[in-house]
Amino acid sequence: MTEHGVAGRVVIVTGAGQGIGRGMALHLGRNGASVVVAEWKEHRATRTVDELTELGVAALAAVCDISKKDDVDAMVAATVDHFGRVDGLINNAQTFRPQAPVATVGEEDVDVFYGSGVKGTLWAMQAVYPHMKDAGWGRIVNFASAAGITGMPGYGAYNASKEAIRALTRTAAREWGRDGIVVNCICPGAASKRGQEAAARDTDAHREFMKDHPIGRQGDPEDDIAPVALFLCSDAARYLTGQTLMVDGGAFLFA
Ligand SMILES: NC(=O)c1ccc[n+]([C@@H]2O[C@H](COP(=O)([O-])OP(=O)(O)OC[C@H]3O[C@@H](n4cnc5c(N)ncnc54)[C@H](O)[C@@H]3O)[C@@H](O)[C@H]2O)c1
Repeated sequence: MTEHGVAGRVVIVTGAGQGIGRGMALHLGRNGASVVVAEWKEHRATRTVDELTELGVAALAAVCDISKKDDVDAMVAATVDHFGRVDGLINNAQTFRPQAPVATVGEEDVDVFYGSGVKGTLWAMQAVYPHMKDAGWGRIVNFASAAGITGMPGYGAYNASKEAIRALTRTAAREWGRDGIVVNCICPGAASKRGQEAAARDTDAHREFMKDHPIGRQGDPEDDIAPVALFLCSDAARYLTGQTLMVDGGAFLFA
């Protein structure tokens, strides 16, 4: 019988100190997973781990900058050392830079987007792979964006980095499927702190966007985005790989 939950699983969530990452950490924990909060801001990591501990969830704070391969390797080693295994990896962390048009975006910003987005995702996938391969079971969930698919103006470096993550997702899906590892991607639409700040920066555009939004509200990290991530980390997703799920209340339909 297919197991639809994550009870007993050990899942790493990068960038789980706030926003969507925090929402997923709490939801997975409430549903029986042990959670590794991989986050570069120590106070944020501790805050989420405290919340999980309060819920009775086994949780580990792993302070790491996902753009640094050594940090990521140490984070995965600490996970295996502490919990003895790693079943799921959610590559959610992303470092952001201000908007910049394609004509002028600078090398430093490109490096930040690629370092934390593409390289961070790749380093973490590489670090968990031997453990998941040995176990014959693994779940990897990467984070991209509708902005990358539509080519949202002002976000060239971010968009390119997010589309590279989708390419990595498809490639790993093909390379690792026979190891029992499925690799998928979520493009979320969520009222995380960052999402709310973006809406507040241009209230007219946000009002216009919400006018056509099929469900009529931005997603809640814990209640709307996290259940899909949980599904992708469960046995139920065993025949789904290399895919992008638009978890945005249908917003992509009119983008
Ligand atoms: N919020 C949305 O609607 C939306 C839309 C499209 C895509 N996304 C994607 O979803 C993911 C989460 O977005 P969010 O809105 O929750 O973002 P957020 O900025 O609120 O949270 C990101 C978390 O990652 C951490 N982080 C940043 N850089 C890091 C690094 N180098 N190493 C370790 N941790 C790091 C931050 O400290 C923070 O806790 C991102 O990948 C984002 O691109 C979000």
